[in-house]
Amino acid sequence: MKELTTQQLRKEYLGFFKEKGHTVIRSASLIPDNDPTVLFTTAGMHPLVPYLLGAKHPGGTRLTDVQKCVRTGDIDQVGDATHCTFFEMLGNWSLGDYFKEESISYSYEFLTEVLKIPSDRLAVTVFEGDSDCGADTVSASVWEKKGIKKENIFYLPKKNNWWGPAGITGPCGPDTEIFFITDKEKCGENCSPACDCGRYVEIWNNVFMEFFKNSDGTFSPLSQKNVDTGMGLERTVAMLNGYESVYEIDVFRPVIAFIDEHSGKKDVRGARIIADHIRTATFMLGDEKGVTPSNVDQGYILRRLIRRAVRFARSLDFDATLLADISRMYIDEYEPYYEELKINSEKIISELNLEIERFGKTVAQGMKEFEKLLGYIQNNRMSGKAAFRLYDTFGFPIEMTVELAKDNGITVDVEGFEKAFREHQEKSHAGAEQKFKGGLADNSEATSRLHTATHLLNACLKKVLNDDNIQQKGSNITAERLRFDFNFPRPLTQEELKNVEDAVNAIIKENVPVVCKEMPVEEARKLGAVGVFSSKYGEIVKTYTMGKYSMEICGGPHAANTGELGHFTIVKEQSSSSGVRRIKAVISGAESESKPE
Ligand code: ALA
Repeated sequence: MKELTTQQLRKEYLGFFKEKGHTVIRSASLIPDNDPTVLFTTAGMHPLVPYLLGAKHPGGTRLTDVQKCVRTGDIDQVGDATHCTFFEMLGNWSLGDYFKEESISYSYEFLTEVLKIPSDRLAVTVFEGDSDCGADTVSASVWEKKGIKKENIFYLPKKNNWWGPAGITGPCGPDTEIFFITDKEKCGENCSPACDCGRYVEIWNNVFMEFFKNSDGTFSPLSQKNVDTGMGLERTVAMLNGYESVYEIDVFRPVIAFIDEHSGKKDVRGARIIADHIRTATFMLGDEKGVTPSNVDQGYILRRLIRRAVRFARSLDFDATLLADISRMYIDEYEPYYEELKINSEKIISELNLEIERFGKTVAQGMKEFEKLLGYIQNNRMSGKAAFRLYDTFGFPIEMTVELAKDNGITVDVEGFEKAFREHQEKSHAGAEQKFKGGLADNSEATSRLHTATHLLNACLKKVLNDDNIQQKGSNITAERLRFDFNFPRPLTQEELKNVEDAVNAIIKENVPVVCKEMPVEEARKLGAVGVFSSKYGEIVKTYTMGKYSMEICGGPHAANTGELGHFTIVKEQSSSSGVRRIKAVISGAESESKPE
């Protein structure tokens, strides 16, 4: 096998697919353009959804890239051998061009001839078929023809061999996944790539996107048959070099060595978590769309990552001010490929340091609180609730509290802490989900009114432009203004803008009540509600109806009556991205009108 570095694998991969007629495109931003349902780009296909649905891509019908991705869903597994919150996905796409046979042939050729992986170290899975789509015997027979042993071809159900859609609706299809067979023995008779015993490591996924999943759960054939593939860069480099963990690869090795060198205590998991979180934070801060730590949305995730890294640094006796040095190491490593890191390098370092400093102050306040709490200790034991307060308000990890307590000759009710922690998590998950659906920056009255105005704008655009295909592609609301992205092929004329404004203001004047009702997502759809279907099938969603004008699925909150909105004015109309327009609008005089004498 070829022992490639990450840089070399990127180059080999893109070079290979370029030779096969693919246009090399740049990684898109980590912040999705037109998808308010997801905070970060999670796969190479994500920025390409419009093209998978049929829009013409300027690069043609064969594309390849390396996409920056963030997945924070399995943050608790970071520190094991394979999980990272940031990773790079190597991808190649056919937009209605080649299909199964060529896609599999390319993958096989790249793996066995370029990477020189022996064919008998590869296993593949294919879709076993169900009532939506037949068994993928085509892929299986191509694999066999290429040289994959029959015993290494596994048929698996939808749970394993179907990818997408990213949200509740969208492009999706059966996939064939490619695994490297490690030296680990089979874990049992039924050992297969479906089990996670570690014998099979997934390196590549080829999705045959020929379906669109509708909101009612049915699948319709797509007008074009696409291929969407994704190969994990870090995992593949680790596998090629015979490493047991991704944290041994070239981009992490010097960072882990630096952490070990400057730590008072050696702890493999802690060092990996620091290395992972600072890398992710570096890419978020350095992103072309610029994220900074905050208490909402992407900024909140960034804040959590930085603070978690600081906490682990403390537990390792690693000076947190050295975290910026790690960030610099990453900037140097990655800037030849991601120039945005170089352009934003000063911002990355200064924002990182600022957040570390802010967190330091919070912890200092927490120490005061800790000392105060000592005054209330009974039976030399700190209650779980008190320990949780230190965690929740001052970011004290439980290990730190236990240690501080020990220094003071007392113990901590860790079980009680864990109970309080779980209760809090359940509550905050529910809250985060709500906010996620609403896409709201905060829940003040001003934003509630702007959110209601956004629904009216959505409805009036369709009416004035006489186009039922118009859909929300993004929404961002601050206390001052709303921003609304929607699909439309050209700029709006002054007259159209004026007509949209007038239509919204007419509904405001009519003083229509805003009625909230909860129902299953399918029922809402049937009743003609519009909305972003981020909800799971069968989930109960909130709908907001404004008379005959608008019905939308949305987390709310909203004004109680359209009359509360005051006067609606469009301040700007511009392009957001190809085929997507953006409107910024404000409402004025709302305060006085919303408060009856
Ligand atoms: N979109 C596919 C994945 O993320 C390739 O696995």
